[in-house]
Amino acid sequence: MKPHGLMCPNILSFISSLLLLSHGVALAAENHETFLKCLSLQSDTISEVLYTQNNASYSSVLKASIQNLIFSTPANPKPLFIITPFHVSEIQAAVKCSKKNGLQIRVRSGGHDHEGLSSISDVPFIIIDLINFSEISVDVEDKTAWVESGATVGQLNYRIAEKSQNLLAFPVGTCPSVGVGGHFSGGGYGALLRKYGAAADHIVDAHMIDVKGRFLNRESMGEDLFWAIRGGGGASFGIIVSWKINLVAVPSTVTVFAVPRTLEQNATKLLNKWQYIADRVHEDLFISPFLFRENSTMVSLFTSLFLGGVDRLLRLMQDSFPELGLTKEDCKEMTFVESIVYLDGFEIRESIDMDVLRGRNFPKRPFIGKADYLTEPIPEEAFQGIYDIFFEQDQKTNGLLVFFPYGGKISEISESEIPYPHRAGNIYTLLYYAEWGQEAIDDAYQRHVNMLRTLFNYMTPYVAKNPRTAYINYRDLDIGTNNKLGHTSVQEASVWGKKYFKNNFYRLVHVKTMVDPENFFRNEQSIPPLNLVKDEL
Ligand SMILES: Cc1cc2nc3c(=O)[nH]c(=O)nc-3n(C[C@H](O)[C@H](O)[C@H](O)COP(=O)(O)OP(=O)(O)OC[C@H]3O[C@@H](n4cnc5c(N)ncnc54)[C@H](O)[C@@H]3O)c2cc1C
Ligand SMILES: *[C@@H]1O[C@H](CO)[C@@H](O)[C@H](O)[C@H]1NC(C)=O
Ligand SMILES: *[C@@H]1O[C@H](CO)[C@@H](O)[C@H](O)[C@H]1NC(C)=O
Ligand SMILES: *[C@@H]1O[C@H](CO)[C@@H](O)[C@H](O)[C@H]1NC(C)=O
Ligand SMILES: *[C@@H]1O[C@H](CO)[C@@H](O)[C@H](O)[C@H]1NC(C)=O
Repeated sequence: MKPHGLMCPNILSFISSLLLLSHGVALAAENHETFLKCLSLQSDTISEVLYTQNNASYSSVLKASIQNLIFSTPANPKPLFIITPFHVSEIQAAVKCSKKNGLQIRVRSGGHDHEGLSSISDVPFIIIDLINFSEISVDVEDKTAWVESGATVGQLNYRIAEKSQNLLAFPVGTCPSVGVGGHFSGGGYGALLRKYGAAADHIVDAHMIDVKGRFLNRESMGEDLFWAIRGGGGASFGIIVSWKINLVAVPSTVTVFAVPRTLEQNATKLLNKWQYIADRVHEDLFISPFLFRENSTMVSLFTSLFLGGVDRLLRLMQDSFPELGLTKEDCKEMTFVESIVYLDGFEIRESIDMDVLRGRNFPKRPFIGKADYLTEPIPEEAFQGIYDIFFEQDQKTNGLLVFFPYGGKISEISESEIPYPHRAGNIYTLLYYAEWGQEAIDDAYQRHVNMLRTLFNYMTPYVAKNPRTAYINYRDLDIGTNNKLGHTSVQEASVWGKKYFKNNFYRLVHVKTMVDPENFFRNEQSIPPLNLVKDEL
């Protein structure tokens, strides 16, 4: 297995229920006409951006942004309508009319949600798909940009690099196809996290539509709501249409490498050593190993972005990680924006194809994922247990562990500054990921789910505890009781809520109770409002 197209890691456990589906359709039929009538009264332009199930393009529009093929099989529930707005007024109309007619809204920006929550629901629903709500305007002088939620993080960095002659950037995840809307809403981080922290740490204003269909900016939404939307997870508070961000400086030359080491080449010793230096080396240096099985050995692929030239990198590596034996030939200098493409596939190409960033036509596959945070190194002897799990699988079942280093800026910001709470004390994030070919989704799905669950269980003694923390952007419906479709108690939701947000969960509940007390914006893991019946105060 080649770790190509990183991994845009994903997650599992969608159980399709035909019962709920047919129930949903029956319920919806009554509201169908009144919903459409309501929309046309609220917006003159809505018919240009409204796809009903009868529309010839309905299916292709639906599938265009389902990044995980698990969620585009025929068994998955389908939206009654898809709206692909160009104007805020169309979003406002959709919110008002959905509320009136008892339809749930799924907002979709890039469509990478690990559990497919932006594309499916088991109650009657519509999708507001922001695919065409994707303008980016960069102010180089001011070092800021406004970006609409439907842009991808690749498009964002492409545009910033173009406008700033490669001197500015924005700290986002390593997968260029991820959407700004979901990514910023959950925190969002990538190879710049040690230098600059998470994407949500750099948001300075936002425009959103609330449950009443009102258009709000930072001033009119107030600081509590503005706090909540910067990492409290998408889909709980309203529809964020655009974000104002502070850009960060990058050097005109960066250096990348991706060097593989097998077990015979001391992979275990190197991984172990990595655990002791990864969060402590200079914050310009990000080293992220990928661990997977190849033939009868394990490979640890040490991938890296360094914010500087190769000579300084080699000196730093000689000081902190000489065992890796990095040579100048292993390294390649390029611009920061080129490194995004490189880190997405680890292929040194003659010339780097920027269309990967500009477009949104990405290869799609079924995939699953889970995540952990580590506050202590795994004991060196415990790596063998991980390898054993890989070797126990049949030939067709493989997975990938991605080690994502902490330290530097991400660890310096206080836990309560924004809802994303995983800061000082963490040494790295561990992602468990598996993908497979398009065929035999069901069979392959189960084999890979079993493998990742076995790995996840095996890791229990070695990862963060009380709670075993998790990352909302690597959404995992396995880590607690999911919201029931009406109201869920805060108590129940706090099981996954505290894993994602630690004590910020309770402030998120407070904000939710203020801005959406009837819980209109909801999904299986949205923040619940205090429910006076169920929650003892
Ligand atoms: C291949 C892959 C690689 C990834 N790599 C990274 C990485 O390096 N770093 C990282 O931090 N994360 C990474 N992620 C996780 C990614 O950040 C999250 O899945 C993120 O939520 C995706 O955003 P989206 O807009 O593409 O997804 P969507 O599925 O569109 O949205 C995700 C959630 O947010 C809600 N939402 C979307 N837009 C809005 C909006 N405008 N207003 C309100 N709610 C909204 C949706 O309803 C859904 O609940 C990766 C994911 C994948 C699949
Ligand atoms: C959907 O189909 C109808 C008729 O076939 C067409 O008039 C309408 O423009 C289509 N909607 C969109 C958004 O293209
Ligand atoms: C998005 O906008 C483009 C350009 O106007 C248009 O061709 C395309 O059909 C739109 N896509 C959707 C899904 O509405
Ligand atoms: C593995 O490490 C040992 C020392 O611990 C060293 O002697 C040996 O050369 C290393 N092997 C490789 C392939 O680097
Ligand atoms: C695995 O096997 C293939 C095919 O024989 C070979 O090309 C490759 O180098 C092997 N990989 C490792 C890590 O041994």
